[in-house]
Amino acid sequence: MKKIGIIGAMELEVEALKGKMSVRRTEEKASMKFLEGTLNGTEAVIVQSGIGKVNAAVCAQILCDTFQVSHIINTGVAGSLKNEINIGDIVVSSDALHHDVDVRVFGYPLGEVPQMGRLAFPADKHLAELAASVCRRVNPDIKVYEGRIVSGDQFVSDRQVKDSIIKNFQGFCVEMEGASIAHAAYLNHVPFVIIRAISDKADDSAEMDYPTFERAAAAHSAALVEHMLPEI
Ligand code: ADE
Repeated sequence: MKKIGIIGAMELEVEALKGKMSVRRTEEKASMKFLEGTLNGTEAVIVQSGIGKVNAAVCAQILCDTFQVSHIINTGVAGSLKNEINIGDIVVSSDALHHDVDVRVFGYPLGEVPQMGRLAFPADKHLAELAASVCRRVNPDIKVYEGRIVSGDQFVSDRQVKDSIIKNFQGFCVEMEGASIAHAAYLNHVPFVIIRAISDKADDSAEMDYPTFERAAAAHSAALVEHMLPEI
């Protein structure tokens, strides 16, 4: 049966979806509150994971084990890594990787977790194409890009840090959870996609822009998730 796990790191990334859900039961696990019910007519579990890669991975594993979700969607905000991707635009993951993993000393490429046999975790093609096409249909004013999302336990707000992440990984945007959700979904053979709306440019302007634009960006991403659910 189709049951969609929806993860947002922060309250404002999931509050609108929670408000629209018809909740059947609530369960608390690992200090996270999981809401199970229907959203836009679709079986779903919505949860706020908390910020960063460990919280997100723990959360994704609980969605797989306890709720046996069939798909995972991560919704939220991110910093842009491309000049043409502006605040308010949406990035849908083609794949995701950890930009803060470095085991080059033992011959692994920068970003690759040893013994995983891969650098990046590929998103489900159907989910990614659906997210992009639903976005173009319901939000024609918002530009949507499909590309690599890179994650690390770090808020990127420095031009030099941004430039080295771009040079090393060719990401479209940077955030703090997607790759670990992708990683956990990959280990559990659960299809996933990450949907992120841009809140800042991940450079020296990020500190100012992020608080200004995070709410509107989070709402864009959540609205897209809501609309795509019945078509999964
Ligand atoms: N989430 C939103 N903006 C971000 C940034 N600049 N770095 C990391 N995570 C983010």
